[in-house]
Amino acid sequence: MGLTVGSNQENFNYKVVSQFAIVTILWGIVGMLVGVILAAQLIWPEITFNIPWLSYGRLRPLHTNAVIFAFGGSALFATSYYIVQRTCQARLFCDKLAAFTFWGWQAVIVLAVLTLPLGISTSKEYAELEWPIDILITVVWVAYAVVFFGTIMKRKTKHIYVSNWFFGAYILTIAILHIFNNLEMPASIWKSYSAYAGVQDAMVQWWYGHNAVGFFLTTSFLGMMYYFIPKQAERPIYSYRLSIVHFWALNFTYMWAGPHHLQHTSLPDWTQSLGMVFSLILLAPSWGGMINGIMTLSGAWHKLRSDPILKFLVVALSFYGMSTFEGSMMSIKTVNSLSHYTDWTIGHVHSGALGWVAMITIGSLYYLIPRLVGQKDMYSTRLIEIHFWIATIGVVIYIAAMWIAGVMQGLMWRAFESDGTLTYSFVESVKATYPFYVIRLIGGLCYLGGMLLMAYNVFKTVQGKAFIDAPIPLAITNH
Ligand code: HEM
Ligand code: HEM
Repeated sequence: MGLTVGSNQENFNYKVVSQFAIVTILWGIVGMLVGVILAAQLIWPEITFNIPWLSYGRLRPLHTNAVIFAFGGSALFATSYYIVQRTCQARLFCDKLAAFTFWGWQAVIVLAVLTLPLGISTSKEYAELEWPIDILITVVWVAYAVVFFGTIMKRKTKHIYVSNWFFGAYILTIAILHIFNNLEMPASIWKSYSAYAGVQDAMVQWWYGHNAVGFFLTTSFLGMMYYFIPKQAERPIYSYRLSIVHFWALNFTYMWAGPHHLQHTSLPDWTQSLGMVFSLILLAPSWGGMINGIMTLSGAWHKLRSDPILKFLVVALSFYGMSTFEGSMMSIKTVNSLSHYTDWTIGHVHSGALGWVAMITIGSLYYLIPRLVGQKDMYSTRLIEIHFWIATIGVVIYIAAMWIAGVMQGLMWRAFESDGTLTYSFVESVKATYPFYVIRLIGGLCYLGGMLLMAYNVFKTVQGKAFIDAPIPLAITNH
């Protein structure tokens, strides 16, 4: 198994990496298409003909699950499996288990696509899937941990490269979060009730929800960043020592910041303040990591002029810096009293999601995919360049519209007349938001258009070629 025919040299397992890489693009398109439909529904609510399973309330969790777990998750499986093999100079531990994680994860996604539009949901945000699917997720995740850490155990290098630390922390933390937030009592095959009640339920949910952002959408993607930026820039990490400080500081701080999602609620006040303080501290490791990534380009800045893949990776880091700065500011109680419940939050989310998560994924896949078919370059660099510009314009349009809409909504809701009555009715604020929803839809369409270009470019790159398991170099080199 894993040996090159006619020699005793071992190969990397690229098959599972290729499978995950290809479905990442597919799920990205599906998830973003649902996002575009949601954006359109907010302008024309009757656009899906009042069909219950296409209603906003059911499609919204489908969107979040598709983009976070199907698109983001598949990208993380693909890149972590690639990076752990390259940096450990070892084939993945247990091919069969690795294949199980691929098919198991796809089964989870298909079950989500079937159950969420039918209205089957726990109603816990980002943890909507019902208990039988939760159990499947747990089994797949344990298999993932065995494959990942098993590969680390059989490594031929002495050192464990920093990306693997980030991926390792994400795999362990997501397991703990998933299990504890989903402790529930089944009432039937498709209905369960949370083991927690009231404010405890809210606290556990946002401890989970925030760390899902922190570990599923940040720590893990930083693992991606620490491998693909040095690779594409052909420069070593600016400061390896800073990357280790980044790792420990980020992991320690993220865990405490969850209550910033519950400011001004019935959660004890000191917990809310604690969440705020840790969110402010979180800015330091976040920016430390961003600076470390960007400074990796020292001596290679000129490459930004001609290399659109590097542009994707570096712009992703800039959005990482922007969204973390914004998040820390939004956690301040007085700022949150304006931003909460408004579209400002949606702007923040997509500055992180489209700007950071999706951009770093797209850049990494453009590096990875040609190598999986034994090539160095994608079919068309020009198409990558066009993709870069429409994606960047799309995300800027999206978030600028949401920022303006959000601040406007917050100000309209808190405006009072001298006699104590509200200046604006809620409906007036909805009406004032319409133009911004139209602008957001245009931004979303640009971003989705970019993904379609990517799909075409990838198709042309792999067309007629076989995905091959590259041989593991005999001498230990820096990979
Ligand atoms: C074409 C791209 C996209 C479009 C047009 C889009 C659109 C939307 C819309 C309309 C909503 C609902 C907002 C609301 O309820 O007011 C939403 C929510 C959300 N989207 Fe997207 N989205 C896109 C891509 C993504 C990606 C790539 C991610 C993650 C990697 C993402 C993560 C989320 C999350 C987490 C929410 C829930 C936010 C919250 O509850 O505060 N989206 N999106
Ligand atoms: C230092 C880092 C960050 C801090 C301190 C932070 C803080 C916050 C705050 C205060 C909120 C608003 C809570 C509310 O009023 O309901 C929020 C919402 C959110 N943030 Fe961040 N953020 C950070 C980074 C990020 C990044 C990088 C992403 C995405 C990749 C992200 C995704 C989200 C999502 C999805 C929500 C909406 C959750 C919901 O209500 O459904 N955040 N964040």
